Amino acid sequence: MINPIPTDALIQRADQLARHSTPYRDPTTRVQWERLNAHAFWLPETALSLHGIREFDDLPLADRQRLSHYEFAHFLEAGLWLEGIFLERLGRAAAHPGAPLATRMYHLHELREEAGHSLMFLEFFRRSGLPLHAIAARHDGALTLLGRHLPFDSTLFWGAILLGEEVPDRLNRYIRLHAEGVCPVAVELSVLHSTDEARHIAYGHEILQDRLDGMHAPKRFLVARALTMLLKRFVQTFYYPSQALYRHAALPSAPWAQRARENSVRRAFVARCLGSTITRLRGLGLPINWP
Ligand SMILES: [Fe+2]
Ligand SMILES: [Fe+2]
Repeated sequence: MINPIPTDALIQRADQLARHSTPYRDPTTRVQWERLNAHAFWLPETALSLHGIREFDDLPLADRQRLSHYEFAHFLEAGLWLEGIFLERLGRAAAHPGAPLATRMYHLHELREEAGHSLMFLEFFRRSGLPLHAIAARHDGALTLLGRHLPFDSTLFWGAILLGEEVPDRLNRYIRLHAEGVCPVAVELSVLHSTDEARHIAYGHEILQDRLDGMHAPKRFLVARALTMLLKRFVQTFYYPSQALYRHAALPSAPWAQRARENSVRRAFVARCLGSTITRLRGLGLPINWP
């Protein structure tokens, strides 16, 4: 059910964003795949979950690079999971006959772009040579359930969508700004992805702002509490791989997942990445309690 009816301002915004999305090119044809290099980092070294832990930083270059391959693939795999849920919801919303044409069309543009990202990630897996079972990410069951069943256009749904786009996007932007020494294909994926996400995030932000306008303080406080909880779960999913990933990356045996969670350098990195996201949410009058 589409409820409430979008305001004129949102309809106009959807129309404007749809026009920006119209000159579409399949991202799998835009990536220079031949530049994929297994002897380079696939994430900036500073973006690795174990960066800052001495035993890890002292490992040979090939070991650290291999972890970056698995962590980058894990990051894409988590993106595939989230985009899969969003594709389901967008598809249903676009088919809803009661919604304005402009928003239905923009949902289809988003769907096409998200499908393009997912295709680009799968093509990356195909060419990476990494075993698929090794990069299967842990999917958060509670987030999956909420993503599938929260009412479309509810405040919480769009808050969750915004977080689900912002949390990975901040890492994409970090990769783009720290691209030196990183495999050019990984950088291209991040740049192509964050270019589309800028529009998706702008739209999500405006819908959320619209839903929050006039909302009384106690309800706003509850929304902020729920979004803080969701934010922590998205951060766990995207920034903290499971122990299995370190095993597949063939690091020397150690409780690396736990050490990543306890790694103060990692926590500071994540807080820095997401700082602007938190500031923007607080700017909408949501008292987000994080980190
Ligand atoms: Fe995406
Ligand atoms: Fe998106």
